[in-house]
Amino acid sequence: MKKNDAMFILGIESSCDETAAGVLEVSRGKFTVRSNIVHSQLAIHRRTGGVVPEVAARAHVEWIIPVITKALQQAGTTLNKIDRIAITRGPGLVTSLLVGVETARTLALAKNIPLVGTNHLFGHMVVNQLPPNRPLTARGFPALCLVVSGGHTELILLRSWQRWQKLGATLDDAAGECFDKTAKLASLSYPGGPAIAKLAIDGNPAAITFPRPMLNKPGYNFSFSGLKTAVRYHLRDHGIPNGKAMNDLCASIQQTIIDVLVGKTIRAAKRYNVKTILLGGGVSANRALREQLAAAVTALPQTNFIAPNLNYCTDNSMLAAVAGYYTPVRANGWRGVRVDPNLSL
Ligand code: KG4
Ligand code: ZN
Repeated sequence: MKKNDAMFILGIESSCDETAAGVLEVSRGKFTVRSNIVHSQLAIHRRTGGVVPEVAARAHVEWIIPVITKALQQAGTTLNKIDRIAITRGPGLVTSLLVGVETARTLALAKNIPLVGTNHLFGHMVVNQLPPNRPLTARGFPALCLVVSGGHTELILLRSWQRWQKLGATLDDAAGECFDKTAKLASLSYPGGPAIAKLAIDGNPAAITFPRPMLNKPGYNFSFSGLKTAVRYHLRDHGIPNGKAMNDLCASIQQTIIDVLVGKTIRAAKRYNVKTILLGGGVSANRALREQLAAAVTALPQTNFIAPNLNYCTDNSMLAAVAGYYTPVRANGWRGVRVDPNLSL
């Protein structure tokens, strides 16, 4: 049942290869997820070893209405009771984004519901506040968020949820992209992150020493394309390993990525004296990264570490819904919500 002062936000996300819709209830600053339906296209994209944009867009067209319908049903509500629709307008694949944005604009117009266009990367940061975590209070700022997804690796210093500054970003491949590309080189399945993480559990992270790019350089930028090249040469010289040797390779790749991410994040946290370190993006589902960053933060007595619940790490409807709560409704309504595939933070 919806309380009188509560706001119901329908979040819709279609920026890459997940079609997602869900209902978020916000009451006195408290978030309750009423539904979060994610239709994954993984089975389709596994066949091609990556996302083919036209194929992803076709799947969005097929699934977006059924997914929205299910999200409303599961939340026990209807469009008539929705106070706001939030749609991811970028960054992402233009054809995928267009399916979500045009669907949301149509619903908003037909039902006269306020519509906001949200930033996918901002969504990856704000979902840190969903249960079992709690909304950040003013005392939680300044906060530092490491955003690590398939397309982005960024360190963001947040003064509040309205005011932030980018400290650094990747100069080439993103962390998730590095997982995906090295996994492909080793003939592992798509997406590479979960495949490498699973095999790494039984591997020795110190078995192979790969270069840790940019770790000891000043500043907060990252670079991962050198690691991809190092793995390519390793496989050329040693062949694709089997059994324990494959576990060791995966553990070594994963550890190299984690060392760089944790090293830069802790250095920035010290420099800016942050109260909270947040993690966001699909790579935040990586258990070794979560554990090692949490362990490193214990050396900073003034700093808390928060990572999103596993339901909200990879792409999902709450990225749009929670970001939509913080995004002001514009006077020109649905007309003003436009796709921007290169939208940045
Ligand atoms: O945020 P996301 O779902 O989509 C984008 O916005 O890009 O992130 C997807 C990325 C992929 O590169 C995938 O390999 C990676 O997140 N990923 C992981 C894990 N789960 C997903 N990487 C490492 N370990 C994982 N457990
Ligand atoms: Zn994402």
